[in-house]
Amino acid sequence: MSDDAALIEAGERLFRRPFAFRRGLADLADLPPSDRLEIAFAGRSNVGKSSLINALTGVRGLARTSNTPGRTQELNIFESETAPLRIIDMPGYGYAKAPKPMVDRWNALVRTYLQGRQALARVFVLIDARHGIKANDAEILTMLDKAAVSYQVVLTKRDKIGPKAAETVETETLKALSRRPAAFPLLVSTSSEKGDGIGQLRAAIVQLMSERGLSA
Ligand code: GTP
Ligand code: MG
Repeated sequence: MSDDAALIEAGERLFRRPFAFRRGLADLADLPPSDRLEIAFAGRSNVGKSSLINALTGVRGLARTSNTPGRTQELNIFESETAPLRIIDMPGYGYAKAPKPMVDRWNALVRTYLQGRQALARVFVLIDARHGIKANDAEILTMLDKAAVSYQVVLTKRDKIGPKAAETVETETLKALSRRPAAFPLLVSTSSEKGDGIGQLRAAIVQLMSERGLSA
């Protein structure tokens, strides 16, 4: 079996374990201890973070999704009793109609978490394939670069565009990421609706765990 196929299979095994909601928190003081490898999903509001977590874990409705931007307002934590992994669903940024107190809260919570969390092994930054990297996405990527927090961009909602547009956005995103020191290779072809690209995402997580000496 090739290394890639082995990773994909290990990823499937990992996410066959039951993942459940552990808690939502609005205050970083409530974070659990840094006792397992943590991955976080960040991105603009409505980009598909919660949907991707559902597709990843194979648990429909695990993370709440909505057509209305601003659905996720806390850091929501998902864990499995039998895997040394913690998944964090983050509130989205860039929601134009968000009231200022919400934006301030987002900034305080998310920025502090992203820059200062010891257990945080990688941030998956989701970018809508229809729009590519926008100014507020670039701001987050720059913050992660400066804090030397490793991140990996995932293009979402690929099912909403044609193959030509997909190719263009992939090329442009790759070009933009090549200048960024903390960026890992782009993960493409993700559609939470169709399940495309989920195997690659799972494989990336298994690889990350094995780099940290954790068996998936
Ligand atoms: P906030 O919590 O508000 O920041 O949003 P979010 O990033 O968690 O987005 P969410 O997962 O709630 O998805 C927003 C909307 O996009 C929902 O209506 C999803 O069904 C839809 N959606 C998410 N991923 C995809 C995808 O890959 N393809 C399509 N067609 N729709 C998607
Ligand atoms: Mg959400």
